[in-house]
Amino acid sequence: MSQPTIESILKEKRTFKPSPEFAHQATISSWEQYQELYQQASDNPTEFWAQLAESELEWFEKWDQVLDWSNPPFAKWFVNGKINISHNCLDRHLTTWRRNKAAIIWEGEPGDSRTLTYAQLHREVCQMANVIKQLGVKKGDRVAIYMPMIPESAIAMLACARIGAVHSVVFGGFSAEALRDRINAAEAKLVITADGGFRKDKTIALKSQVDLAIADNKAPSVDNVLVVERTKEKVQMEAGRDHWWHDLQAGASAHCPAEPMDSEDMLFVLYTSGSTGKPKGVVHTTGGYNLYAHITSKWIFDLKDDDVYWCTADVGWITGHSYIVYGPLSNGATTVMYEGVPRPSNPGCFWDVVEKYGVNIFYTAPTAIRAFIKMGEHHPNARDLSSLRLLGTVGEPINPEAWMWYHKVIGKEKCPIVDTWWQTETGGVMITALPGATPTKPGSATHPFPGIMADIVDLEGNPVGANEGGYLVVKHPWPGMMRTVYGDPDRFCRTYWEHIPPKNGNYLYFAGDGARRDEDGYFWVMGRVDDVINVSGHRLGSMEVESALVSHPAVAEAAVVGKPDDVKGEEICAFVTLEGGFEANEDLANQLKAHVVQEIGAIARPGEIRFTDGMPKTRSGKIMRRLLRSLASGQEIAGDTSTLEDRSVLDKLREGA
Ligand code: WTA
Repeated sequence: MSQPTIESILKEKRTFKPSPEFAHQATISSWEQYQELYQQASDNPTEFWAQLAESELEWFEKWDQVLDWSNPPFAKWFVNGKINISHNCLDRHLTTWRRNKAAIIWEGEPGDSRTLTYAQLHREVCQMANVIKQLGVKKGDRVAIYMPMIPESAIAMLACARIGAVHSVVFGGFSAEALRDRINAAEAKLVITADGGFRKDKTIALKSQVDLAIADNKAPSVDNVLVVERTKEKVQMEAGRDHWWHDLQAGASAHCPAEPMDSEDMLFVLYTSGSTGKPKGVVHTTGGYNLYAHITSKWIFDLKDDDVYWCTADVGWITGHSYIVYGPLSNGATTVMYEGVPRPSNPGCFWDVVEKYGVNIFYTAPTAIRAFIKMGEHHPNARDLSSLRLLGTVGEPINPEAWMWYHKVIGKEKCPIVDTWWQTETGGVMITALPGATPTKPGSATHPFPGIMADIVDLEGNPVGANEGGYLVVKHPWPGMMRTVYGDPDRFCRTYWEHIPPKNGNYLYFAGDGARRDEDGYFWVMGRVDDVINVSGHRLGSMEVESALVSHPAVAEAAVVGKPDDVKGEEICAFVTLEGGFEANEDLANQLKAHVVQEIGAIARPGEIRFTDGMPKTRSGKIMRRLLRSLASGQEIAGDTSTLEDRSVLDKLREGA
């Protein structure tokens, strides 16, 4: 092997088969069926995707060519096809019994709630589409959406899609500056926002942040601001520029035909959470994205017509785009939206929502699961979770011990868990179990979705052997792939297609993650390659050492980074938060070091353990190891910190150093 790869040290061996009861009713119901689909898709990917596009979606006009890959890495899918995703999410259900089915069940943080049927949702989307047209927004124009988790955020997205405007959703937790950068990058003409929202028992102001973002002509593209009333707190309304949604809605027609869009017309731009640097505007287009969000939702979440499905993400992230809004609605499913987040004042809030609505399918993130572990299992145990039949996770590698807790305490050992690996860039899930088909292993995302040719290679693009770590790549285009970086095609090429150069003209999509495949072909994602630690020439993924730490009863959360060392190159510095009832002291630090040695071996022994109350995380909950690395090596924090959720965590860590 000519290039260094990543060593794998995690030794997780447990396997869980789908129960016969689950498999029996599942859409993809056996391992053989998965393998057959995978084979079919690999033998003839264009035929595979074309058949699905035909059978699963409604097109105004059919495509002439399934895939145009003549100018890699710029792909075109369903060339010259005409389609509208808002039509596929709404109109086509209205002619069926689903017309009066719940499309969105929404629960506000203070306990207010609302249910919108498909017919009601369609009506409001049409009204908002007419309102934004009236505000001068045309096909191709960009609209920034800066909202709390209320139905109007989904309505705004669908309204843009309906008339062919490009939405750029900016997570409501971002600051005025971050919002301004994103408005300016996309030159948005309209901002859709709310007076505020409820978050962690307080109100957060949104409209006043918009005012700050666009004040003094600092965001000159913005002509209008549309404001949804949520908290009823007082806001400044500038005449001629700012408009209340309820005022304009009152006069708006509920009739608005969906614009026939070209398959490759831009649907949205979404700035990545940026755990590693300056945010990128990830561009997704219409036809391929619609198909990919649709079919992954259908097969991975095994969506059935009587299911209540809940993805706990925020619509400000790709998970919210694909798996709260577009994927479930395209399938005619019932999707739950919850405004609240887990918080110490209400540690059972998620389980109350599960109980109240009889949620059947529940999709959340490892960071949330670890927070629940810390708050104690008596909270979920005090609720009726018997409606749950399927669980999912996304966002980070899940530590096997967190997986086991999820499996036992939430799933009561009967719900399959789908650990879904994917990215903003991929549009939808890429590596995952199919719940009725795939035996799962805690901590492994298992196998690629049919049609996804994932592999693990060295830096020259050569596949690595079983259990050897390497770089996760995708070898063939797929319909949901990002098309470019908004306004910066060179950056698109550089970031994703050049680290590993094309091999015999065959382009490899480089995801930026390290991974290995075990002897059974299971994928184990080891974390971002930027987070790899090099100890005495051994390249270790952060995830595996962290999982060893988390398997100790005292540890709630762990993040490991490399710290320069004269002898070893780097040594491991571990940041650790403790479960309630454990005391941070040297004795415990030594126990944890010994525990890692016992779990994975002496090479992974942390040189230093730092106890902390919290980790610096992005607003989507990912640990920012880049910042911890600077702290560990005593350097100043450099680079972008605008995506940091809570600055005070960083300040405390600095003081503790
Ligand atoms: C990480 C979120 C391991 C990974 C959908 C990826 C995961 C990045 C998993 C994308 C998983 C996401 N197992 N790692 N199941 N899911 N990741 O763009 O490093 O917010 O590259 O998309 O999260 O994060 P993004």
